Amino acid sequence: MANIVLVLFSIVLLCITAAQGRKTLHTYNEIPASSVSNDGICKTMVETQGYNCEEHTVTTQDGYILSLQRMPEGRSGKKADKPPVLLQHGVLNDAITWLFNSPEESLAFILADNGFDVWLVNSRGTKYSSKHKTLSPNDKAYWDWSWDELASYDLSASVQYVYNQTGHKLHYAAHSLGTLMALAALSEGQLLSMVRSAALLSPIAHLDQITSWPKKLAADVFLANDVYWLGIYEFIPNGNAASKCIEEICHTLHLDCSNLMDLFIGPYCCVNSSKIDVLLDHEPQPTSTKTLIHLSQMVRTGKIAKYDYGDPGQNMQHYGQPVPPVYDMTKIPNEFPLFLSYGGQDMLSDVQDVQVLLNDLKDHDGDKLVVVFREDYSHADFVLGVNANELVYDPLMDFFNVN
Ligand SMILES: *[C@@H]1O[C@H](CO)[C@@H](O)[C@H](O)[C@H]1NC(C)=O
Ligand SMILES: *[C@@H]1O[C@H](CO)[C@@H](O)[C@H](O)[C@H]1NC(C)=O
Repeated sequence: MANIVLVLFSIVLLCITAAQGRKTLHTYNEIPASSVSNDGICKTMVETQGYNCEEHTVTTQDGYILSLQRMPEGRSGKKADKPPVLLQHGVLNDAITWLFNSPEESLAFILADNGFDVWLVNSRGTKYSSKHKTLSPNDKAYWDWSWDELASYDLSASVQYVYNQTGHKLHYAAHSLGTLMALAALSEGQLLSMVRSAALLSPIAHLDQITSWPKKLAADVFLANDVYWLGIYEFIPNGNAASKCIEEICHTLHLDCSNLMDLFIGPYCCVNSSKIDVLLDHEPQPTSTKTLIHLSQMVRTGKIAKYDYGDPGQNMQHYGQPVPPVYDMTKIPNEFPLFLSYGGQDMLSDVQDVQVLLNDLKDHDGDKLVVVFREDYSHADFVLGVNANELVYDPLMDFFNVN
């Protein structure tokens, strides 16, 4: 099955590149400057449902100020009596993903109602985590990071913060790119002293099982990191500048892009379609172009490695070796409790790619690896599906309860 999401990244990047030449590239101010205190996630998405919520921030080692939300109790007002859970969203999303459906359907509310101390975090560059100690999102240096930094700096800061605040080891649950962040960190032996277990929904690790034409397209577009060095640092998927060009490319490739954003979300089996428009008011969220280049490098090389600067000298400078170091998934400790849930219709977390990851984990202790496969599920269903509560979150909580 073609990996439409990556194809789309490629198309949009191509188009932004073209737009750059015409000086029509939209800038950061298309995103309304948000004030976390007035319209933060607690106020708009959690308290409105009758739950208590606290806003927190943590500063990463490289200066990004991330916002976190804590739900210390369920709707009944009974204080959490189970360990903390940190929820990490995927690429082009933010923490709202976990709160979007009704309290009976959304993982964050369900966990809080089941006695967990729930923490949500928003990755650097998204609306509620756009601040930095010294940089502004208008600075090119602000966007100079890939998912390596999400895995090393963002993840360690948020895990350390929740651990410090609560005094307890936490469970981690993630969707999409959030799963790769954890897999990468765990493969390097990080987090183990602070995290009890990890639940990975739509896990992303190997990205090489895609059909040939989108692969070629992605590879061509990102070759030599042209896009980045042309000066496109921030990636806003629905900026106006690119839309005309996207139409043209979709037409040429005979792709139905009539609803472009549906492609980012869908296809899906079980998302409440009457909510898609509301969802698109919040998502997609910006990320760095470098993150998308990094993902495309994985597609091209079939390796899970650090960002390739495309030049032995520069790699040497960053890594002390001419090629980027590989993240070795077989190094994830065999006794570390892992829950993996993946879907038969998922274009980003392809079934065959997940098999490669499961093969990496073949020596994992049998009772420390729980795998839940849903044939009809695609990428979005794991966070937005109206029946994910029964199909995925119930087994996920069973897993947390014994680990
Ligand atoms: C956590 O606590 C340690 C020890 O007090 C401190 O050094 C560290 O900065 C704290 N980290 C975060 C992210 O709160
Ligand atoms: C879908 O969303 C609509 C509008 O928010 C709501 O009325 C309906 O109950 C939802 N359906 C399901 C199955 O959650």
